[in-house]
Amino acid sequence: MKVVFYSMRPYEQQALQPLLPDDWTVIFEWAHLDAQTVARASGAEVVSLFVSDQADETVLNQLAAGGTRLLALRSAGFDHVDVATARQLGMEVVRVPAYSPHAVADHTLALLLMLIRRLHLAQDKVRRGDFCLQGLMGFDLNGKTAGVVGLGRIGRLVVQRLQAFGCNVIGFDPHVQVEGIQQVDSLSELLSQCDILSLNCPLTPQTRHVLNRDTLGQMRPHAVVVNTGRGGLIDTQALLAALRSGQLGGAALDVYEFERGLFFEDHRTEGVADGLLAQLMGLANVVVTGHQAFLTQEAVANIARTTVENIQYWLAHPQGPQPNAVP
Ligand code: NAI
Repeated sequence: MKVVFYSMRPYEQQALQPLLPDDWTVIFEWAHLDAQTVARASGAEVVSLFVSDQADETVLNQLAAGGTRLLALRSAGFDHVDVATARQLGMEVVRVPAYSPHAVADHTLALLLMLIRRLHLAQDKVRRGDFCLQGLMGFDLNGKTAGVVGLGRIGRLVVQRLQAFGCNVIGFDPHVQVEGIQQVDSLSELLSQCDILSLNCPLTPQTRHVLNRDTLGQMRPHAVVVNTGRGGLIDTQALLAALRSGQLGGAALDVYEFERGLFFEDHRTEGVADGLLAQLMGLANVVVTGHQAFLTQEAVANIARTTVENIQYWLAHPQGPQPNAVP
């Protein structure tokens, strides 16, 4: 059985290597999967993808023609895969539904604290020997209203953490009622009340640009936004405008709408060619990390283990149902 792992990085390979059965032919590809690189998977029954890979209709047709029957995603999110087309082509799509929601919830709070306590600016200053506090004024989390959009595995842990910091937390999720969380019935209600907004829902046709010019306009002046969900949840042009006009107090982003082809790579030599991201990163009230919320030892180990188990289960039960099939 041949399996090709796209977007493979040394930290993941290290976790995967000891778990791989001897009788698999394994190819680790640094490259992301796209129309240019798909031919490298020819003859592989299993192809394993990360969030930086793109499995659209063109790519999937080629994978199917090359004999691929299982897509084993090394992520919880699956918005980078055209799942309907994959199924039409007779491919199973499995994922790692929960490798460490704690990793992402921790990073959400880390980004929030970094932004509101100006730690990114402070770090720059002290490194240059400037211990003057001008420009570093923050605000207390205690007593603030925090809104969490998406009360799934990660969102609920974000709520717990915000509550521990003394925030009054409200949540919005049209699909679940969670005990112990005060939920509002509409996004507008949440936006008009919160000083802090955390996006923790998946990217779907319904949630694309859930923060846009209109909804940003419904937010309290000077509120801050943290996005560890997916870049496409925010209309980035509208975000930039809201930050520039002072309508919004700040943004902390682990994900970016146009991150594909940019994140997970070292661009120091040529610089950041994406003008929109460069403008955002030039603002003092914006912090950005390159989709690293998942990156803890525990999460990477769980991703590796579940991915290998998913492939083994499919090999033993090709007719399914697969326990970790994408919903
Ligand atoms: P989950 O499936 O447990 O929870 C998602 C929640 O969002 C569900 O309760 C669902 O009802 C809710 N939801 C769906 N549509 C909604 C809408 N229109 N408005 C409000 N809520 C809505 O997923 P989990 O594990 O909590 O992950 C959430 C997202 O976080 C993933 O889909 C993924 O995009 C992102 N993620 C980001 C990572 C990173 O490294 N930055 C790592 C892992 C996940």
